Amino acid sequence: MTLKGKHIVLGITGSIAAYKAASLTRLLIKAGAEVQIVITPAGKEFITPVTLSALTGKAVVSEFFTANDGTWHSHVDLGLWADLMIIAPATASTLGKMANGIADNMLITTYLSMKAPVVIAPAMDLDMFAHPSTTRNIEILRSYGNIIIEPAAGELASHLIGKGRMEEPEKITAFVEEFFEKQESLSKKKILITAGPTYEKLDPVRFIGNYSSGKMGFALAEECAGRGAEVILVAGPVSLKTDHPNITRVNVESAEEMYNASVNVFPNMDAAILCAAVADYRPKEQASEKMKRNGEELNLLLVPNKDIAASLGGMKKDGQRLIGFALETKDETQNALKKIEKKNLDFIVLNSLNDSGAGFQYDTNKISILSRNGDRKDFGLKSKKEVASDIITETLA
Ligand code: C5P
Repeated sequence: MTLKGKHIVLGITGSIAAYKAASLTRLLIKAGAEVQIVITPAGKEFITPVTLSALTGKAVVSEFFTANDGTWHSHVDLGLWADLMIIAPATASTLGKMANGIADNMLITTYLSMKAPVVIAPAMDLDMFAHPSTTRNIEILRSYGNIIIEPAAGELASHLIGKGRMEEPEKITAFVEEFFEKQESLSKKKILITAGPTYEKLDPVRFIGNYSSGKMGFALAEECAGRGAEVILVAGPVSLKTDHPNITRVNVESAEEMYNASVNVFPNMDAAILCAAVADYRPKEQASEKMKRNGEELNLLLVPNKDIAASLGGMKKDGQRLIGFALETKDETQNALKKIEKKNLDFIVLNSLNDSGAGFQYDTNKISILSRNGDRKDFGLKSKKEVASDIITETLA
């Protein structure tokens, strides 16, 4: 009963694969879930609501109103009730409506009101699936945070062979079980994450900074929060947003502010991931007025900042995990291993500036994870969201 107590809204649309929705419903219920079906008018042409309500023990929702007594079906209530929405099968038309907010049926209004994560299993003919419009709609839905279960390749209802078959109900159920397992894997854990650059002020209008965008740290914060952790995200000056309810954001500017915020909360944390690109030095003096040009050489005297990672490493208690990052331009492995020792880290994530698409500003990254006991795992170029998932799975799971 891996899905015991889970509320799942299953959206069914007008594809021949709708017949598989009955098995999917049965499997989800067998695993312990409560399932509420929402079906489009076209979906009802492929599978009858009677079959589905007999399986779920609940009336199938399809229209905004029940014709005979005018009862209003609240898509808003369904959006709040659900722990997960699955749309399987999802036709090209439904994908397009979801991507563009065309709320002309109960399934789409439910989707737009959904507070829970949404998993989509497309099903259509191979040419429809390969059409750029479908590709674009899927990309848009991914950008909303929806999860796509890619269709499988094989013989289609048209007898053509290609990619477009809805994934099998057993596989979708296994995916859902794993999803919930992962979602709760860090529940009750408290995690500190530092992200972004720091700005070290020279005068009221200038600073010494770096190119860090904060994207990797924010992706890590979202990933931890998505797995149930309570996250404190200490963020340097970045233009990123996060609205996950499990994330408490503390905005800082300088390394000193980041140090204070981090040291303050670390004793109550289960782990800290130090992803920020912290300035090693700050100007000794900060001019109170804008510095004027006088045509001569200007010497800036810099003094070292405190190393947040090393300080937390010194405070670390049994059971607390500390994960650092290293961005090296040469002797990467050797330097990364030295840092593990020096800063008393448990793991270090190495990202190289030598790989194109990896590092500052990019949406992708390529990492290796080195552990204290000498293990090393190398990963390929992936989105920062996927990289975040790999890091959490390797270091905290
Ligand atoms: O020594 P280096 O700056 O290369 O170490 C990188 C790691 O140390 C990163 O995890 C970074 O967030 C952290 N660090 C820190 N405080 C500093 C400098 C680096 O926490 N002042």
